[in-house]
Amino acid sequence: MLHWFAAGGHGGAHLVRFRRKVQPHVTQVRTPRTYTSSLGDGPEGLPTGVRFRPALPEEEYAVVAVRRASGWTADTVGQQFRAMAEGRRDIWIAECDGYLVGTLTIEWLADDRSLADGVAIAHVSNLVVHPYYRHRGIARGLLASAEHAATLKAFRSMTIGVDEGNHYARTIYERRGYRWSKDLHAPWGRIHVLARRLVAPTFTA
Ligand SMILES: CC(C)(COP(=O)(O)OP(=O)(O)OC[C@H]1O[C@@H](n2cnc3c(N)ncnc32)[C@H](O)[C@@H]1OP(=O)(O)O)[C@@H](O)C(=O)NCCC(=O)NCCS
Repeated sequence: MLHWFAAGGHGGAHLVRFRRKVQPHVTQVRTPRTYTSSLGDGPEGLPTGVRFRPALPEEEYAVVAVRRASGWTADTVGQQFRAMAEGRRDIWIAECDGYLVGTLTIEWLADDRSLADGVAIAHVSNLVVHPYYRHRGIARGLLASAEHAATLKAFRSMTIGVDEGNHYARTIYERRGYRWSKDLHAPWGRIHVLARRLVAPTFTA
């Protein structure tokens, strides 16, 4: 099991450090499934040295910290962890150098069923990567992990929202095959919803 503590002395950038602690009573079954490029078990082309895995319930504060350090709101994190406990969302994290460096959430069922309908369409939001760890493919790895997790649940497409004007994030999504699907109007402005079809994994005997 991984434990975190707030790290000082890293430029004040609010990185959150993990520390491994041996807990003999924790069995292998409880270990979160992880995807790394060395495992050959998840999506292709993940950056080396980065672990992508679902967040643990006790990692709520770590997710708050990385979202704040990335200039993103953390107001909804508590609500999202509760939704995770109820099975309506998953929260994924990226771990590098022992730090929690990125996160996103996958919504399986949303009020707006065109975003996530619980059976075929899932929705990604709140994708952030800590400023020190950008341009290494971590956002791409988080997206690939989320897409892979969705295909394992037989979801067939993924939607993602991006604020009008966030051209940089939109370009990353378009490079992964996401295309404009519709616009939504939030209190802070227009959101472009992009969508892509997911490719089901193939299994060999
Ligand atoms: C948008 C955001 C999540 C991108 O994170 P990131 O981890 O830097 O993204 P990636 O590294 O996967 O891709 C970004 C770039 O790195 C490049 N890249 C990917 N893998 C790379 C690698 N191994 N080596 C070098 N560059 C690589 C990508 O091609 C892309 O190219 P660019 O820098 O020329 O644009 C991050 O900038 C962020 O947190 N922004 C603030 C929050 C935000 O806007 N989130 C989006 C919400 S919709």
